[in-house]
Formats: sequence, C-alpha cells, structure tokens
Amino acid sequence: MNRFTGKVAVVTGAARGIGAATAHRLAAEGAAVAVLDLKLEAAEAVATQIRQQGGTARAYVCDIADLDAVETVFARLVAELGGLHILVNNAGITRDNLFFKMTRPDWDAVLTVNLTGAFNCARAAQAHLVRQRYGKIVSLSSRSALGNRGQANYAAAKAGIQGLTATLAIELGPYDINVNAVAPGYIATAMTAATAERVGAAPEEHQRGAAERTPLRRVGRPEEVAAVVAFLACDDASYISGQTVYVNGGAR
Ligand code: NAI
Repeated sequence: MNRFTGKVAVVTGAARGIGAATAHRLAAEGAAVAVLDLKLEAAEAVATQIRQQGGTARAYVCDIADLDAVETVFARLVAELGGLHILVNNAGITRDNLFFKMTRPDWDAVLTVNLTGAFNCARAAQAHLVRQRYGKIVSLSSRSALGNRGQANYAAAKAGIQGLTATLAIELGPYDINVNAVAPGYIATAMTAATAERVGAAPEEHQRGAAERTPLRRVGRPEEVAAVVAFLACDDASYISGQTVYVNGGAR
C-alpha cells in the first residue's frame, strides 16, 4: 500500500514506542516523516532506520510543551520536507500517584505535555492545513480517559484530548481537515514497563495481569496502534472525523 505518497507527516514522541511504530508505518506507505522528540539521538536512530528501509525521514528535537519551540520547528520541517499534511499528536508522559498523594507539579507536567502539547502542535499545524484545505490530525488519547486508579492527571489529559478532538473536528471540518483520536488500552512499551516498575512488578508479570483482564487475552503491540493511526490519517477514512477509536483488545 502507498496511501501516503506525496504526503508529509509529523509524529511527535516518535523516538520510541507507539510513535516510532507510527513513523515507520507512515514512511513505509510513502510519507516523508518528521520524527519529532525530546531525545535527539533516539529520534535520529528512528529516522536513520526509516531511510535505510528506503523511506524518507528527518529527526527534529522539540519540547512540545513549549509553543515557541513548536512553531519554530514546524516552520523548519515544513520548509525542509516540503509541506505538512498529517499531524500525529503522540508524545506523552505519565506521573502516576494516588490522588491524595499527587503533587501539583505532577498534575501540571502531565496536563502540559499530553494536552497542552497537542494544542501547541495542532495550533502550529492548522495554519498550513487550512491554507491547503487538506489535513489529518490524529491524537493519542487512552482508555484511561474513562478513569484509572492512580492516573487522575493522565485520565484528565486524555479525556481532554477527546474534547479537543471533537471540537477541532467541528472548527476545521469546513477546511477538509479530519481530526480523530485513538485510545489504546495496555500496549507493551517503555511507558507501561515504567508503570510496572513503579508498582514493583516485572514488566512481563504486569503484562500478564493486564492480558487476563482483556477479552483478547493479551496486551497490544505498538504496531497495532500505528495501523489504526495510519487508517485515520489516510483517505480511506475521509468521512470519519471527531471520533475516538478504542484500540484495547475489547476491554470495556
Ligand atoms: P513512550 O514513553 O514509550 O514514548 C513517548 C515518547 O514521547 C518518548 O520518546 C519521549 O521522549 C517523547 N516525549 C515525552 N515528552 C515529550 C515532550 N515534551 N516533547 C516531545 N517528545 C516528548 O510512550 P508510548 O507508550 O509509546 O505512548 C505513546 C502515546 O500513547 C502517549 O501519548 C501515551 O500516553 C499513549 N498511550 C500509551 C499507552 C500504552 O499502553 N503504552 C496506552 C494508551 C495511550
């Protein structure tokens, strides 16, 4: 499939995990991909791997929490990659704690990166997308948006993504821009490994517990989320907008 030939995509938090899998998937289908992350070396490694596989990619360093930095890097990547058609708001962090122990800095950090970061990138992208009357924005929500013990900050941010998505779909729809979200369940990445560590479990043990609670009886892989992001970012999904698609193995 070459669903993204001639398209330029930015994937935030693309140095590893779901973001890296998404960058690979979009590039494999023809997109020129901006691999954007806080971590230069890891982002460079993903971009290099994509190029070695015959794709087009460049690494960009940026803290998505910083609007000025986001605007600067978006202007640069538009110039260097020749445009912008797809934004994947994937970068995210967790700072889990039970609510009575959750500190204000941990609340602020999670809201700022997961929600304000998506706002910043969508703001920087929309000028280009509106002008060309074409664009796709796909943002990472989470099953935790429905509530999850120890994640008041993260759940609020990821529910916020769903509200932001529904509203941007209304405002940007008249310019032929589709805006959707993907809400994964438990996906085996460094983020879930860190969660396991915090609760004193080995990653495999933690994954087994999650698998038992999931109808498909296993945890998800980054590539399985990337496939849904790619679908929502392509023209097969041209009449889908304002939606949040759960990718969680059937968990309720
Ligand atoms: P991860 O922790 O493996 O990767 C996140 C990437 O984002 C890292 O490369 C990190 O350097 C980057 N990043 C963090 N803060 C940043 C910032 N301020 N600016 C730029 N880059 C930044 O995470 P994972 O598991 O791949 O998750 C990706 C997205 O999917 C996140 O939004 C996460 O909340 C969401 N998600 C993950 C689930 C899971 O089970 N792994 C479940 C539901 C949602």
